[in-house]
Amino acid sequence: MTSAPAPEGDAELTGTDTAPHPIARHVAIIMDGNGRWAKQRGLPRVAGHKAGAEAVRRAIQSAADHGVEALTLYAFSSENWRRSAEEIADLTGLMRFYLERELATLEREGVRLKLIGDYSAFGPDLMKRLDRAVERTAGNKRLTLVIALNYGSRAEIAAAARALAAKATAGEIQPEAIDEQAIGAELQTRDLPELDLLIRTSGELRLSNFLLWQAAYAELLFLDTLWPDFDEAAFAAALEKYAARERRFGGRS
Ligand code: FPP
Repeated sequence: MTSAPAPEGDAELTGTDTAPHPIARHVAIIMDGNGRWAKQRGLPRVAGHKAGAEAVRRAIQSAADHGVEALTLYAFSSENWRRSAEEIADLTGLMRFYLERELATLEREGVRLKLIGDYSAFGPDLMKRLDRAVERTAGNKRLTLVIALNYGSRAEIAAAARALAAKATAGEIQPEAIDEQAIGAELQTRDLPELDLLIRTSGELRLSNFLLWQAAYAELLFLDTLWPDFDEAAFAAALEKYAARERRFGGRS
């Protein structure tokens, strides 16, 4: 990322602006607004999801190009099961289609796929395809793409608590040893960098049970843009906002 040239003659501003821009190492996105995007155009909801899937492709490429280490996308929440059977079939069908079509791109671009959430709920066929994609990209190092599927943050934290309780019952750990680090180490995001930036599109100001623990120190960015309109420039602008906030609050640990 390049910084804008500082205005001439402003020595103080030049001093701060030439400092390296902090790049968000881990960016997460709540991709919202596909339905409204379609409605505005008089199209069926599935058309919004298709356009949303194209925005996913662009976001992955942008993250890789900017040197982001991990990009976590909320593709299907545990609450999404409340949608109509038709819409769920559309969403899973799109995932299957893109997985097949984009796997070669992920491999070529050095993207490792990781899944969080209980994706076994999507049935053995999609599960097998997802597992295969994870295996095939396991050695890639440029970007980790984390897809949250049937994910809910409270369920994730509850599972971590159960795992720690089981270890305590088995005498493997002392209850007093259960600290923040121990809980973090049981979460599905344990191998990822700390979450730096959480973006939600479409003007809603909610976290919707997404990465609640991980977002403790993250910068939150709520955008009015509908997800299908989120493009390379929007991604770059979001990273720039993050960098500007980090420069202002640079004293924070
Ligand atoms: C929200 O739009 C978006 C989703 C339900 C999930 C995101 C799904 C995709 C981007 C499609 C395919 C995904 C992959 C990984 C290929 P909404 O329907 O809630 O929008 P609305 O709030 O305007 O109705």
